[in-house]
Amino acid sequence: KPIVLSGCQPSGQLTIGNYIGALRQWVNMQDSHDCLYMLVDMHAITVRQDPKALYNACLDGLALYIACGIDPEKSTVFVQSHVPQHAQLGWIMNCYTQMGELNRMTQFKDKSAKNVSNINSGLYTYPALMAADILLYQANQVPVGDDQKQHLELTRDIAARFNNLYQPTFTVPEPFIPKVGARVMSLQDPTKKMSKSDDNINNFVGLLEDPKKITKKIKRAVTDSDEQARIYFDTAEKPGVSNLLSLLSCATGTPINELVPSYEDKMYGHLKGDVADAVVSLLEPIQAKFATLRNDQTELDRIMRNGAEQAQERAQQTIDKVYKAVGFIPKP
Ligand code: TYM
Repeated sequence: KPIVLSGCQPSGQLTIGNYIGALRQWVNMQDSHDCLYMLVDMHAITVRQDPKALYNACLDGLALYIACGIDPEKSTVFVQSHVPQHAQLGWIMNCYTQMGELNRMTQFKDKSAKNVSNINSGLYTYPALMAADILLYQANQVPVGDDQKQHLELTRDIAARFNNLYQPTFTVPEPFIPKVGARVMSLQDPTKKMSKSDDNINNFVGLLEDPKKITKKIKRAVTDSDEQARIYFDTAEKPGVSNLLSLLSCATGTPINELVPSYEDKMYGHLKGDVADAVVSLLEPIQAKFATLRNDQTELDRIMRNGAEQAQERAQQTIDKVYKAVGFIPKP
């Protein structure tokens, strides 16, 4: 089976964007692929986190993965900091990544523009740690949203460079990006992506939010003001409406081109009501499952322990190969 690896940062509550862009695909790949899914707490601290909030967000994220349909008996589910090999390979990847490459990363540019008081070197070398995450497990495919494409390209470049310098060591991974929903947009500003760390909470729908609040947020979403107020899909002309149509399509499984005709003589309000209902019915069973599991610390501990053990064993094999390739002496 092809190997799949992906992860989310516990830097806030996971959103419907994370679900549609990533988690939904993760669930679908479990039978056909050998999957590893993690919570990247080490990446999360590249932006200042409140320690208590990080701790809870990580447990929430873990319980949410399972509630969304990740089966820890099928997939390896773990927390990044529980597997020290990520830090070990992360360092080595730093030494095979050029500053020029990191300078071009749009995520770094965006985050450092937003966070002028804490442009730390971890934020800068974030993509090298992400490359390590992926290459450690020799992943063939990495299911992510559109915003991670550039990081994936860099990972491929680093892997190919290392393989060329020494012996073939890493599998060069492919991004796996969904056709619809790869970039869920902010509700209040549909020209930027929905983000869990957005300062304006009206911009995103959290997977754990109260259904009434979700409905309110979606009904308040910014739509496009043109004279006819028609409902059709065009991300340039109608970013707000197109975002709602994508959300509806992903939440119901109906293709966008089948949805559009049914809104021919309807108003924005109809569309918003339908999107809200669809998102709420998508999330209700997830929230119910989450509530049970999140209160079962013994079960969460068991999942984390097993996942870390399985991940470590696999990761160590790559570390051994890499240490040998670069010329480190094996511990006598
Ligand atoms: P993060 O935590 O920002 O997001 C987790 C996943 O959700 C996707 N995503 C979205 N998809 C569609 N629309 C959106 N608005 C949206 N927002 C987020 C992301 O593309 C991602 O797939 N760097 C990664 C975490 C990471 C990782 C890795 C991913 C670290 N190591 C190794 C894959 C493999 C990140 O910040 O994801």
